[in-house]
Order: sequence, then structure tokens, then C-alpha cells
Amino acid sequence: MRSALRSTLVGLLVAVGGPMLMYVGFISLLGVSSFEARMIYQHRATVDARDLNVPEQVGYSHRQVIPFNIATLDGLKLHAWHILPIGLYYKHIADLQNGEGGLQDIEQTLNFRLLRDDQEARLVLHCHGSRGDLGWSWRPDNHRALAAAAPDKIHVLAFDYRGFGLSEGSPTETGLQTDALSVFKWATDVAKIPPERIAIFGQSLGAGVAISLARELALRNISVAGIITEGGFTDVPTLCTTYRVAGFLPVAMPLVKFPVLMNYFVSRLINTWENKGRLVDYIQASERYHIQLIHAEDDPIVPLSHCDELFRHAVNATASNQLGLEKFDREKTASKTELGQVGFITEWTTPKGLIRQEVFRFGLHDKILSFPLNGLAVLRAFQSVDPSFAA
Ligand SMILES: *[C@@H]1O[C@H](CO)[C@@H](O)[C@H](O)[C@H]1NC(C)=O
Ligand SMILES: *[C@@H]1O[C@H](CO)[C@@H](O)[C@H](O)[C@H]1NC(C)=O
Repeated sequence: MRSALRSTLVGLLVAVGGPMLMYVGFISLLGVSSFEARMIYQHRATVDARDLNVPEQVGYSHRQVIPFNIATLDGLKLHAWHILPIGLYYKHIADLQNGEGGLQDIEQTLNFRLLRDDQEARLVLHCHGSRGDLGWSWRPDNHRALAAAAPDKIHVLAFDYRGFGLSEGSPTETGLQTDALSVFKWATDVAKIPPERIAIFGQSLGAGVAISLARELALRNISVAGIITEGGFTDVPTLCTTYRVAGFLPVAMPLVKFPVLMNYFVSRLINTWENKGRLVDYIQASERYHIQLIHAEDDPIVPLSHCDELFRHAVNATASNQLGLEKFDREKTASKTELGQVGFITEWTTPKGLIRQEVFRFGLHDKILSFPLNGLAVLRAFQSVDPSFAA
């Protein structure tokens, strides 16, 4: 009897303790930055087999998208897509379809000239989330949604950060920031699009990349038409305090039940993505801004509270006098437009521009990428510079 009990206990210990010990051992390795990077940047997440030099495979029309390379400021080669708006594509369909497929010298293509030579062209610089590559999951739907409100004029520039997709290198926080700046410079220097005809879009991790880029540009006194974030978070350590972090960092999930381990993990993080503070810097350094923070209320990965916090800090950064919490709550309620069952919008107008929060009740973390609200956000950003655009 006793030995049976003992062997049951031993069995239990092996069953529970073994994996736990292995897990603790694994977590203690997290001080090693490559482990951390592999968790935050799921660039090696298995995606279905596709050739990223054949964008048609994820649903584009033949030769609507040109795959090409952009060199980063520190000498890496990134893989990017120039996505032609579908209305413009249709106008030139016969000539476009005559081109060659595969990776291109983009400057030799008609697609590129249709971007560079049109004084009315607008460009959305697209910063994707932490998993997969530029053509993964809802992203092609997102590219279409972003251009939908002016399908003759709005081009999308999508790219893979270092280590993602076909891009060289491996991801780090500063690396991704360099990538975004390099892509922006390609847009202004090679494609000759002035900053006021560029909007920056970023989702999830990409929201952090977008905010970092806007901040960097503001510090250089460069002002874009606007920035749009979707499903953004305030910073990685705060994200780690919610159970939902499992969706963002699946490997960290068991940690949530062990605050001591979680605190240790958070204290060792190198890639913290301090988006909230950077948004404040961006606003304070800007001559003008146009900021739209979009979030789905039912986001299962990044709770809506992150968007609320980004919005509150953004607004507070514009206040010349102390903005107490009570006054803020009162004014936020007063400026809120309820959209029935659908969600709400809060617009905060300041002398230097608009800060707008849009909360859609449904949309999860990724599905919202395909919604028409994306196209409206882009249009709003461009019209903030030129009210006659696509009017
Ligand atoms: C920033 O640029 C604007 C217009 O582009 C200009 O009016 C302003 O003087 C510049 N500010 C600084 C600090 O360079
Ligand atoms: C704005 O910032 C000040 C100073 O940090 C703080 O005391 C105040 O509570 C903040 N207000 C809001 C609405 O966050």
C-alpha cells in the first residue's frame, strides 16, 4: 500500500516537476537575448509554403505587386512589396501584365513610375505585427483595406523587418527601428514622395515600429501626413502583466501563474518597446501631427486598456497645464461619439493636430485589419494635410 502511494507520488512529481524544472531552466536562459528575440519576434513562425517573390499567391492581380529589395542604413537587404492601387492597375493593365515576374529592379518598372511621377500619389508605409511575414494571414486584406478609399491614388509599401520573410539579418528593437527609417528614406529619396504624402500604419508590434519611426522623424523635423496604429500596446513589460500575453508571447504563458518568475523575466527584457513614452516624445517634438489609435474591444491578445493608456498619455502630452485625471475623464466622455452597437470614437483636437481613438466592438486582434475603417483612417490622415484629396 505504502509503496504504491510512494510510486504514485514519485510518478506525480516526475509528471509535474519534470516539465516545470525544464521550463524554469528554459526561462533562466532568457537572459540570453537571442531567446528573448525569438519569443518577441516570431519571424520563424511556420507559415504555409509560399514564394514571397510571387505575391499573386496571396491574392494580388498579376504584376500588381513588385517584390524588390531595400538596403538598410546599416547595410542589410530587406525584402519589400510595392502594391499598386487596384484602380490605377486597371488603367494600365495591358502594359503592366507584359512585365517580368520575380524580384525586380523596381526603378525599371512601370509600377514604380506610376508612383514616382504622380504628384497626387499617396503612400502608406506598412509596419506589420510580430508573427510571420509581409504576406501572412490578414495582411493582404489589410493592404487592400488601407487603399480602398482612393483606389487610384493610395499605394502601399509593405516590407519585412530584418530576419522576417526574405529579409537578411535577425531582429532586435533597434534593428527594426533602423529598418523602418531605411524604408521611409527609400520612399522619400528614391520614390520621391514628400513626407506629407506618406502615412505610417502599424499593427501590434508594428504599432511600436510606427510610433518609433514617427518619433525619429519628428526629432529630425520631418512631418508625415499621419500615423495610424491598430492593436498597439503601451510596452512589453505591461503586456506581460496580463494573462493574455500568452497570445503575444506563447512561451511566456506558464509564467503568468508565477509572479516571481514573471518579474524576473520582465526585469531581464531587452526589447521592451516603450511605445507610450515614445508617443509622448513624438507629440512633444512635432510641429504638427495626426494620430489615430484603433483597437478592437474584443482583442484577445492586447487588451483595450493599452489603447486607452496610449490615448491618455498622448492627450496629456499636449496639455499646457496640468491635466488631472478627473478633468481628462470628463472631457473624454464629453468628446466621445457612441456608434450604437458598433463602438465609439473620441477626437481630441489640439492646435498642432488631432488625436483620435477609435474603438470597434468586434475585430479581435487581426481580423480588424481587413475592415473598411482602415481605408477611412488613411483618407482622414491624407485629408488632414490636403482637404481636397479624394474629396
Ligand atoms: C521645421 O520645419 C518647418 C517646416 O518644414 C519650419 O517652419 C521650422 O522652422 C522647422 N523647425 C526647425 C526647428 O528646424
Ligand atoms: C498628466 O501628467 C501629469 C504629470 O506626469 C500627471 O500628474 C497627470 O495625472 C497626468 N494626467 C493624465 C490625465 O494622465
